[in-house]
Amino acid sequence: MRKLSPSILSADFGILAEDVAAIEKGGADLIHVDVMDGHFVPNISFGAPVMKSLTGKTGLPFDVHLMIENPDNYLEDFVTPQTEYITVHEEACTHLNRTIQHIKSLGLKAGVSINPATSLSTLDYILEDVDMVLLMSVNPGFGGQKFIPSVLEKAKELADIKKVGGFNFEIEIDGGATLDNVQEIIDAGVEIVVAGSAIFKASDITETTRKFKEILER
Ligand code: DX5
Ligand code: ZN
Repeated sequence: MRKLSPSILSADFGILAEDVAAIEKGGADLIHVDVMDGHFVPNISFGAPVMKSLTGKTGLPFDVHLMIENPDNYLEDFVTPQTEYITVHEEACTHLNRTIQHIKSLGLKAGVSINPATSLSTLDYILEDVDMVLLMSVNPGFGGQKFIPSVLEKAKELADIKKVGGFNFEIEIDGGATLDNVQEIIDAGVEIVVAGSAIFKASDITETTRKFKEILER
C-alpha cells in the first residue's frame, strides 16, 4: 500500500492542529516533519517541541526528516509514541551505520536520505540496514520548489536494486510533488510520497489530500 506523507513545513503554524486535522480527514497516512538547522541546509524550520505539540491531537504517525548536522545528538528528542520513522541525510553522517543503528535502538524505523546530486552508490553498504530510503527531488531547505525530473530515473534504479537484492526498505520521494506529477512518481516505483505546498497551500486541504490518495491507491 502506497502512503501519503504531507509535510507540515508548508502548514500554517498558527493553526497547526487544524491543518493536521484536515489532512487526517482527507486520508493522509503520515505527517512529514521537516527539521532544518540552518547549517546542513540554508534555512531554520522548527524542532521537536512543535512536533510534540501534535501528539494526542492527531492519530497519524510522524515521519521525521532531519536536515541537520550531528543528528545523533538529537535523536532522542524526537521519540514519541507516534514517531514511526526518523530519517537522516547520508551527507550529514560521518558514521552512517552507527546513526542508523542508533535510530533502530530507539525502537523506530530508520531512514536515510540523499540529495538530488548524491549517487545511489553511496548507499551500497547501508541498504540492508535501513527501513526507508528518501530520495530528495529538490535541494533541501525550502518548501514550494520545482521537482527535479532526473530523480525519477534514480527512483527507478533504486526500485530495481530493491527488487533484485530482495531488500525490504520503502522508497520515499520528497520535494515538488503535485497532483500533476504524482502519477509519474509512483510509476517510477515510489511507495511514500511527501507533499508540502501542494497540500497545505491548496484552497481545500482535505479535498486535495483525498485527490492525492485517490491517485496513490489506483
Ligand atoms: C525540503 C523538505 C520537503 C519540502 C516538501 O527541504 O524536505 O519536505 O517541504 O515541500 P514541497 O512539497 O512544497 O516541495
Ligand atoms: Zn522533507
